[in-house]
Amino acid sequence: MKFKNKNVWITGASSGIGAASAVEFARQGANVILSARREEALQQVKSDCEQLGAKAWVFPMDLAQTGDIVLIVQQVIQEVGTIDVLLNNGGISQRGVVNETILEVDRRIMEVNFFGTVALTKAVLPHMLKNGGGRVAVTSSLVGKFGFPLRSAYAASKHALHGFFESMRAELVKDGVSVTVICPGRIQTPISKSALQGDGKEWGQVDEGQQKGMSAEDCATQMVQAIYKGKKEVYIGGSDRLMVYIRRYCPPLFYWLVTRVKAT
Ligand SMILES: NC(=O)c1ccc[n+]([C@@H]2O[C@H](COP(=O)([O-])OP(=O)(O)OC[C@H]3O[C@@H](n4cnc5c(N)ncnc54)[C@H](OP(=O)(O)O)[C@@H]3O)[C@@H](O)[C@H]2O)c1
Repeated sequence: MKFKNKNVWITGASSGIGAASAVEFARQGANVILSARREEALQQVKSDCEQLGAKAWVFPMDLAQTGDIVLIVQQVIQEVGTIDVLLNNGGISQRGVVNETILEVDRRIMEVNFFGTVALTKAVLPHMLKNGGGRVAVTSSLVGKFGFPLRSAYAASKHALHGFFESMRAELVKDGVSVTVICPGRIQTPISKSALQGDGKEWGQVDEGQQKGMSAEDCATQMVQAIYKGKKEVYIGGSDRLMVYIRRYCPPLFYWLVTRVKAT
């Protein structure tokens, strides 16, 4: 019961890693606040968490509508009380080469993955600081540590999260706010289905890379553990994690490999 009676807000909770994290937090004694756009899917996750004895609330939210976020945060605080943990997990991916991707797609991915996450974090922070601290986590990606084909805007949005949250950690550690940046590799979720192609249409298929990945449940278990331990940065996945170290310690090998790996 690592999070007994703690209130944990999870974005992207309607599917995949976010839904599995909500269930894992509930298993660890937490109450969960669930956000994403699809309310029906959130209600299902709510019921899964309640069956584990957790209190659960659904607050639909579109990360691209940053103007609505402050009001939603006020509603959450009013109804739930304290927010002890914020897991910024909602996001969209990409399947398109740079030279065929319209700028609107780059902007859309930055809007959801970066600005939405930043807006929510900024709106929650004053509340956390007033309460003497809290834990903030963000789901980046291994692609937050290196560039990867078909993912230019996605990789950029995840790299941006590292810059933002590392800076925030340095500022707020003295105030009792811990920051955990989570970098999953390939995880079995439908993320590739909603990934944006160059023209803005959804990719619509579950990629082989995703199908062969770690289960969302195993990923969630490791994420919750990392947040509990206050880890600063974690890499979760299989052999794909090696790319981080190859990029760091043997860049020429990385540059050769990254043009040869299957990107879907
Ligand atoms: N699966 C992987 O291999 C992998 C690897 C590295 C990192 N990640 C990261 O893990 C996180 C979760 O992804 P996943 O793999 O679990 O994929 P997923 O099953 O597709 O879940 C994505 C979640 O984000 C939400 N979302 C998307 N657009 C949103 C918006 N505009 N506003 C609010 N919520 C939005 C979705 O909910 P609604 O559609 O209901 O809004 C959904 O709950 C993402 O940040 C992703 O980049 C995934």
